Amino acid sequence: MGQGARFITFEGIDGSGKSTQARLLADTLRARGQRVVLTREPGGSPGAEEIRRLVLEGDPDRWSAETEILLFTAARRDHLEKTILPALADGQVVICDRFADSTRVYQGITRGDLRATVDALHGLMIGREPDLTFVLDMAPDTGLARAKGRNGTEERFEDFGEHMQTRMRAGFLALADEFPARIRVIDAQRPPAPIADEIAALTTRAMA
Ligand code: TYD
Repeated sequence: MGQGARFITFEGIDGSGKSTQARLLADTLRARGQRVVLTREPGGSPGAEEIRRLVLEGDPDRWSAETEILLFTAARRDHLEKTILPALADGQVVICDRFADSTRVYQGITRGDLRATVDALHGLMIGREPDLTFVLDMAPDTGLARAKGRNGTEERFEDFGEHMQTRMRAGFLALADEFPARIRVIDAQRPPAPIADEIAALTTRAMA
C-alpha cells in the first residue's frame, strides 16, 4: 500500500455495502478538510454514464463477454481521462465505487476464463491501479438478499444466483492475495459504523 494514497476503490459482490462505505469515507475525509471526488463505475463521467446504460440495462444476453470487456474498459478509459486523472492532478482524493478489479472478477471469471483478455486490455488502455482498495467481503446469500431488495432497471448483473456470487466472492478474495500491497479485505457482515471506522483507520495510515 503506497504511502500518500490518493486513489481509493471499493469492491465486492452486489449488495456488499460498497456504495454506503464509499460515501461514509468521503464524508470522513471531507470533515477533515480533504477535497474528495466520490465517483463510481461503470460511469463517473458523462460518456461513461452513457456506456453504463448500455451495459446494465436490457436483455442479459445482449452482449458477449468479450464485447462487455470492451464496453467496461471503454467506460473506464473515459472516466480515467475525464474525471479521475484530472482530480488526482489537482491534488484531490478520488474514491471510486468499483474499478478494474470488478472487470477482473465479473467479466474475468463468470463466463469462462477471460482474465488474460481483461488484463491485456487493461494494460493497453488503463495501465493504472488504485493506491488502496477495500474488498467488502460477505456471504453471498446476505449480499444477494440486499441487492434483490433494490428495484430498478439496472438488472443485467443481478440474476447471477448464489452459486455465481460464491465464485465471485472467491474471485475478489483471490485478488486480495494477488495484490496484497493495495487490497484490504473488510468483514462486511457488521453494522456500517464499525466497518466505516476500520476503513477510516486504514485509509489514514495509507494516506500518511
Ligand atoms: P454497481 O452500480 O456497483 O451495482 P451494485 O451497487 O449492485 O454493486 O455495479 C453495477 C453492476 O456492474 C454490478 O453488478 C457489477 C457490474 N460490473 C461489471 O460486471 N464489470 C465492471 O467492470 C464493473 C465496474 C461493474
